[in-house]
Amino acid sequence: LIAGPSSMVMFGVTGDLARKKLLPAIYDLANRGLLPPAFGLVGYGRRDWSHEDFAEYVRKSVSEHARTEFNEATFEQLRGGLRFVTGTFDDSAAFEKLTEVVGELDRTRGTGGNHAFYLSIPPDAFPQVCSQLANSGLNTPRDGSWRRVVIEKPFGHDLESAKELNDVVEKVFRPEDVFRIDHYLGKETVQNILAFRFANQMFEPIWSANYVDHVQITMAEDIGIGSRAGYYDGIGTARDVIQNHLLQLLALTAMEEPISFDAKELRTEKEKVLEAISLPEDLSLHTARGQYVAGLQGGEEVGGYLQEDGIPADSTTETFAAMRLDVNTRRWAGVPFYLRAGKRLGRRVTEIAVVFKSAPFLPFSSTDTADLGQNAIVIRVQPDEGVTMRFGSKVPGTQMEVRDVNMDFQYGSSFTEESPEAYERLILDMLLGDPPLFPRQREVELSWEILDPITEYWAQNLPPAPYRPGTWGPETANEMLARDGRAWRRP
Ligand code: BG6
Repeated sequence: LIAGPSSMVMFGVTGDLARKKLLPAIYDLANRGLLPPAFGLVGYGRRDWSHEDFAEYVRKSVSEHARTEFNEATFEQLRGGLRFVTGTFDDSAAFEKLTEVVGELDRTRGTGGNHAFYLSIPPDAFPQVCSQLANSGLNTPRDGSWRRVVIEKPFGHDLESAKELNDVVEKVFRPEDVFRIDHYLGKETVQNILAFRFANQMFEPIWSANYVDHVQITMAEDIGIGSRAGYYDGIGTARDVIQNHLLQLLALTAMEEPISFDAKELRTEKEKVLEAISLPEDLSLHTARGQYVAGLQGGEEVGGYLQEDGIPADSTTETFAAMRLDVNTRRWAGVPFYLRAGKRLGRRVTEIAVVFKSAPFLPFSSTDTADLGQNAIVIRVQPDEGVTMRFGSKVPGTQMEVRDVNMDFQYGSSFTEESPEAYERLILDMLLGDPPLFPRQREVELSWEILDPITEYWAQNLPPAPYRPGTWGPETANEMLARDGRAWRRP
């Protein structure tokens, strides 16, 4: 499916996200033939740039970060629809100029009055931008055309602020025209959770408390916070990635089969899972929080979180978070879902491990099964995309010794097709007006309802425990699982 005639106005176009992900994704879509010739892209920002300056900026971003090879003809075609408008968010005259520019694109490039507004800006700028869009009438479609708005996480920092933010946006755009981006939902392997579970007959019968002991969802990063101190210090790991990415992974892993992949059905099933989640009674025993200290990572000296540029020396923001959640449904009662995420961990890996109960009886001698663990199905989200099954197998030899082995499916060797970047898929779906991969406000609110009591408890009672770079987080995270008689997997 190719997007129809349209233009996109991007706020925050000089930011990191736009430069490294959004502009390259737009170019890649064009390069793959998924954008129409009648496409326009308008950058809006403070820089005193001409359209040509903007085009050069886009060229640089694309040549450094695009997935597909740089193709001059694609770029030239895209370039014809690049415009830049200089202005601040409170500059009504600049919004008038913006109105003229999108109108000009409609006339000269045939973008058809279909406009998307991408707010790649801090949420505290949403009210201003939204009211300017409303005042200039840019939010109102004419003659069967559409207007959509794209917002990036964080959708607030707790339930209350998420509601306020949503009120601001939905005062100006209809709920069905708001596209909330959680880029994990754009990842191939995340969409594959649904294919894996619902396109096959062999997994679903064992996907329940009858056979599953527990589930571990890990999102580990080896990088620190980089230059994002301003954003990160007020947020921390739980709000940065658990509220959105990890809870979405949990919902997809635990949800019932939707009757179709229609947005409404899919979102409804995910929301049922989020509604069924309960927190452990004692948060001090079943959650963990950490902060990296200075140390060695990959043989290199790295500073601790408190030494990062822009971080106050007494900051208690966590860079590692772990928690146990329970899903109170017939399918999952009694099966803990353990979530953990952090920066400066052993390596970059995101995976969902469904760990099965042990076989009820083993007709082998205990010495012959000493190396036998629990069966597991591991959905490897990244970087080594695929699925691993771990089960016991006979060790070659004259004895009946059994040991764990892995059976692997790897995207890279099973498919010749290349995976698009998450943002390519999401931007294309947004232009097509296809919403299943975008969470609706109810999901956002349910996720905050789960997280708020934890972060409130942490702020009062649980300062982060230190951990060294290159490890798998603080000792308290291991103790948390050990209390339940379990251990984290080493991805
Ligand atoms: C973002 C977080 O949502 O996801 C970042 O704000 C994190 O802190 C990033 O680094 C990780 O994304 P990915 O796609 O590299 O796993």
